[in-house]
Amino acid sequence: MDSLVIEGGARLRGSLKINGSKNASLPLMAGALLAGPGGGATFLRDVPNLSDIVHQIALLRELGCEVERQADGALKIEVKDEKDSHARYDLVRKMRASICVLGPLLARRKYARISMPGGCAIGDRPVDIHLRGLEAMGAVIDLDGGDIIARTDQLTGAEIFLGGNFGSTVLGTANVMSAATLAKGTTMIESAACEPEVVDLANCLNAMGAKITGAGTPRILIEGVEALHGAAHTVIPDRIEAGTFMVAAAITNGEVRLENCRLDHLMAVVDKLRAIGVIIEKDNGGCTVASVRRLEAATLTTQPHPGFPTDLQAQFMALLSIADGNSVITEKIFPDRFLHVAELARLGARLHKEGSTVIIQGQKKLIGAPVMASDLRASAALVIAGLIAKGTTTVMRVYHIDRGYEKIEQRLINVGAKIKRVSQEELEL
Ligand code: EPU
Repeated sequence: MDSLVIEGGARLRGSLKINGSKNASLPLMAGALLAGPGGGATFLRDVPNLSDIVHQIALLRELGCEVERQADGALKIEVKDEKDSHARYDLVRKMRASICVLGPLLARRKYARISMPGGCAIGDRPVDIHLRGLEAMGAVIDLDGGDIIARTDQLTGAEIFLGGNFGSTVLGTANVMSAATLAKGTTMIESAACEPEVVDLANCLNAMGAKITGAGTPRILIEGVEALHGAAHTVIPDRIEAGTFMVAAAITNGEVRLENCRLDHLMAVVDKLRAIGVIIEKDNGGCTVASVRRLEAATLTTQPHPGFPTDLQAQFMALLSIADGNSVITEKIFPDRFLHVAELARLGARLHKEGSTVIIQGQKKLIGAPVMASDLRASAALVIAGLIAKGTTTVMRVYHIDRGYEKIEQRLINVGAKIKRVSQEELEL
């Protein structure tokens, strides 16, 4: 298990390229199943090289796909046979987003057996809304030995309300929208997730022959078609990766240009950063993020898109922990997503958690210490805090960060961070 050892205090300066989005790539790769054998290959450009993607590739291969990286980096996915429709626990427990093969498998093969994803470090994470949506289209769903078993003779279009207690569901919308592409008749999803990753999936499915309108709004209409075929598609830039690097630039009082960054996907984040004193200037294909003074405190609440994303909550907590004054962060998507609180406190952050709200008393400085990564975004927050903490911060269990950020230490080194990756053995020497 590797760790990242960070010497705090270096100002980040230079340019960074944002990779394709992990959370867009995972459902897009699952969507390629909808072409079926003989339907031609799907080529996805800008799929990042991450452990979650490696797991998704392994799953697609088990499901009868040939998957390979082309010389130009594009991921080629071609369905060769449809005999096996079982996503086993071994794979699903490594990556719960494997659930996004459920809709495509059911629509195309009329049968899917998917291990029920368990909870994870950020909360319970049920999939009841995904199942409710598929049932509304005529799927029969049972649970056996921890597996969800979904069958249908033919999915039929339906009017489906897909909202839940915490708002819309991103992968639930992806699953139901994907399944509806091959249903008989028209499906209307009300309270659909509006995230850019849903829009990206709809664009790719349309290029494959689907008839989807309204993606990016709470009401999506899908007119079912007979068959889909392969297509070529470029994955959108990762807005969470971009937001994470923005915070890293801001906390170090640096100046970093982000290439391949879509500010229109990050409006709530940019608004908050500007409000606390970060300078963000848009240019052709990207933006420059700079900070020249002590930042101000803020109040923020996570919400479904276009609100402030839960996937940047931990990173902002690190940033606000050295802001001037008291800040308040409320988590409305995953109310238990706070494992980073105790670790940030080890670095000297003054945090008081009350239910799903954390009050942050801004400090003048943080002080380096060994800390433990608990999940992907919490790890990113600890790295960000380490960039400014006085002395050495060692972030252990960084395999979490490799799930979502490709070569993070190398890219941060390129803009001036003092950070290195060490193995457990090296750490113990
Ligand atoms: N929910 C239910 N029932 C369901 C589905 C969701 O109650 O059937 C609840 C969840 O428990 C949560 C809320 O609805 O309270 C929203 O969850 P959502 O379904 O939108 O999450 P997801 O689709 O499983 C994706 C991202 C997450 C991101 C969330 C929210 C992927 C692969 N994952 O998860 O990304 O936090 O949307 O934006 O797209 C990450 O990248 O670090 C990450 C966790």
